[in-house]
Amino acid sequence: MSVVPESRTGGPELAQERRLLTEVPGPRSRELHARRTASVAGGVSSVLPVYVAAAGGGVLVDVDGNSLIDLASGIAVTSVGNAAPEVVSRVQDQVAAFTHTCFMVAPYEGYVEVCEQLVELTPGGHAKKAALFNSGAEAVENAVKVARVHTGRDAVVVVDHAYHGRTNLTMAMTAKNMPYKQGFGPFANEVYRAPMSYPFRDGLTGAEAAARTIDVIDKQVGAGNVACFVIEPVLGEGGFIVPAPGYLPALAEYAAAHGIVFVADEIQSGMCRTGAWFASEHEGVVPDLVTVAKGVAGGLPLAGVVGRAEMMDAVHAGGLGGTYGGNPVGCAAALGAIATMRELDLNARAREIEALLVGRLRDLAAANPVIGEVRGRGAMIAIEVVQPGTTIPDAAMAARLSAGCHQAGVLTLTCGTYGNVLRFLPPLVAPDHLLHEAMDVLAQVGAATL
Ligand SMILES: Cc1ncc(COP(=O)(O)O)c(C=O)c1O
Repeated sequence: MSVVPESRTGGPELAQERRLLTEVPGPRSRELHARRTASVAGGVSSVLPVYVAAAGGGVLVDVDGNSLIDLASGIAVTSVGNAAPEVVSRVQDQVAAFTHTCFMVAPYEGYVEVCEQLVELTPGGHAKKAALFNSGAEAVENAVKVARVHTGRDAVVVVDHAYHGRTNLTMAMTAKNMPYKQGFGPFANEVYRAPMSYPFRDGLTGAEAAARTIDVIDKQVGAGNVACFVIEPVLGEGGFIVPAPGYLPALAEYAAAHGIVFVADEIQSGMCRTGAWFASEHEGVVPDLVTVAKGVAGGLPLAGVVGRAEMMDAVHAGGLGGTYGGNPVGCAAALGAIATMRELDLNARAREIEALLVGRLRDLAAANPVIGEVRGRGAMIAIEVVQPGTTIPDAAMAARLSAGCHQAGVLTLTCGTYGNVLRFLPPLVAPDHLLHEAMDVLAQVGAATL
């Protein structure tokens, strides 16, 4: 039985159903797509070019009247649902009051309140402070700025399969070349990459994988040169990789012993997505700095860096900020989203979703040897698609399964360094019946595709 009342999953007017009135995409979407092609840069692509007219709960309704089951949440953003009532009402009030002053010019309470909430919700009872920005990449850039000023060191260590964004520094920190980096160099320097724990592929324990990572840092960078170690506690774009138990704590311990700032990039994994406020909690890790974005503001652009007060305060006045960082409307949305997460206990809901999806996917995997592994935490769940009986990635099969789901009205995403991971990121307010239906569709697509 879901902890989320049906009345909060998308509002009364948006039926929580999969409904196909046309092929996907339908004629009106195709018309819009033709228009788009004439004026929108080709470098900006869309996974599924159905043009959205409304969204809420666990569905997206397109301009042709099709209602698709949403297993993407706009890439882990609309955790509280699209147009969540508490987000909408607070945003409406804020927009009517004032839209922008720039916090660096004339401040306002919403920014302070969001920082207070983030300080409270992030792991650890030590003194913390926060600063707000526009996007995840911007938060990562600012975490690095804070770590460099605090330590007086330059080097940034990241891991294989990492994704941290598309700005120049975060492209350097991101592992995968296509599509994120190809042709966009030269990249920021003083970024070093170490091996990651990837249990399905390396078979190492957390301790063994951490020793391998640390060895590379010691030999190739030198611990005394490292400002920060930046890692996603559950890797997102890199393939929903959950490191082996003990890996993250061992690295946090190593960082603490060498004066390295341990930064948890929780942009995708944070804010209830994995069944905890932050995924670091699953391993009892208390990061020095945490980056937050995506789910924090229910669909409005807002990001933050939260961490040890003495680190955050190391930066001189005026060194952090930006015209729109912590915009009042984004802050209002965040306060509405956080209130919704608390009220509906979306951490508990994410754990329910994990049980449902993992149960259904394990049944599917038992009958389909192309599913090499079912993994993830909370409502951040994936299957890794391989050639049967091997760990050889099968990206073409993952793409066929995803495309089959799209045709049948289920919006899925792929990810992974090898492009062979099919991931499921439903809004946390999506009702059980839609999640079961999505899994039924995947099973049918699988049966037809394999
Ligand atoms: C872990 C992680 N870090 C950083 C980013 C970049 O965030 P944004 O796209 O808001 O710049 C993302 C986005 O997918 C992410 O998943």
